[in-house]
Amino acid sequence: MKDVYILAIESSCDETSCSIVKNGNIDVATVINTQIDIHKMYGGVVPEIASRLHLENITLVIDECLKKANMNVSEVDAIAVTYSPGLLGSLLVGLESAKALSLVYDKPLIKVNHMLGHIVANNIGQTLRYPLISLIISGGHTDLIYMESENSFKYIGRTIDDAVGECFDKVARILDMPYPGGPNVEKLALVGTDSYAMPRILDDGSFNFSFSGIKSHINNLVHNAKQRGEEINKANIACSFQNAVTNSLVSKSKAAIEKYGVNNFCVSGGVASSSFIRNELFSMCEELGVKMFVPLKKYCTDNATMIGAAAYILYKNNQFSGLDINASSHEELSLEDIIC
Ligand code: KG4
Ligand code: ZN
Repeated sequence: MKDVYILAIESSCDETSCSIVKNGNIDVATVINTQIDIHKMYGGVVPEIASRLHLENITLVIDECLKKANMNVSEVDAIAVTYSPGLLGSLLVGLESAKALSLVYDKPLIKVNHMLGHIVANNIGQTLRYPLISLIISGGHTDLIYMESENSFKYIGRTIDDAVGECFDKVARILDMPYPGGPNVEKLALVGTDSYAMPRILDDGSFNFSFSGIKSHINNLVHNAKQRGEEINKANIACSFQNAVTNSLVSKSKAAIEKYGVNNFCVSGGVASSSFIRNELFSMCEELGVKMFVPLKKYCTDNATMIGAAAYILYKNNQFSGLDINASSHEELSLEDIIC
């Protein structure tokens, strides 16, 4: 089969990114323009600012990526773009740019679900093995998915309230650290000890997660201490929090691996760039004799390379889209709708 080059665009949240991916697993060139420094000033992503910045940057990012790859749009085989889930205004900027390229250069258009992108980030530079259990941990999601093959998905658990990354961001804010909080909490936890009692995180025998309880607990703990004029040890809170959350991720993943009897486990999403969480999941897999896949850290947080990698699966299945597709801020009910 001839080589397939896909130009992919990602703009679902606060990163404007373009990538050219060869055969679904080779990152030919990737450019990521992050808006973090701007959103930091507001303590989180401001949707209206995000879409405006995507609009300002999208053509520059696409041009830079093509230059880096030393290619023209006419040389690629398809245009791929994230259409859901995410911030509507942000998604629309990427989607309309992709449609314009598809129309002008007469290239097939492939719409990609952002969550599928996170999972398939594991195919960049390596090859996923099936059947597997996939754990997606990001700013917007905490999902456990069973995949029998690259074409079959079954959601088996998800968060019933906050996503794990969102919880890290909120706890960081309570501890006076800037957005995005995850890396700051991880750094602070390194110099702390697990000395604060944390509430048990949803232990109901399901594969669902819940993080709002622990977030509220930390909020109350810090505010009550402030009101009483008591000292708190932020590093110890960060360490106790990170341990509790990680234990929940590890134990639910372990239960899912055992229930489905798989030998492969993959983890992805921005939170998977945490060395601490990666290591704890690795230890669990090693104990079970299960192969664990995790993307390089640069492919954990939002990027267009993962969208190009996922689009390749759709390309092979001839799953192309018309120019009438729309963006959707909500998660699909089932990824089974996306691939058949
Ligand atoms: O996947 P991502 O880039 O965006 C979404 O699709 O949501 O994930 C961003 C999230 C943020 O909440 C950020 O705080 C979290 O990933 N994150 C981390 C770490 N690095 C990034 N959370 C915990 N520890 C980290 N080291
Ligand atoms: Zn993401």
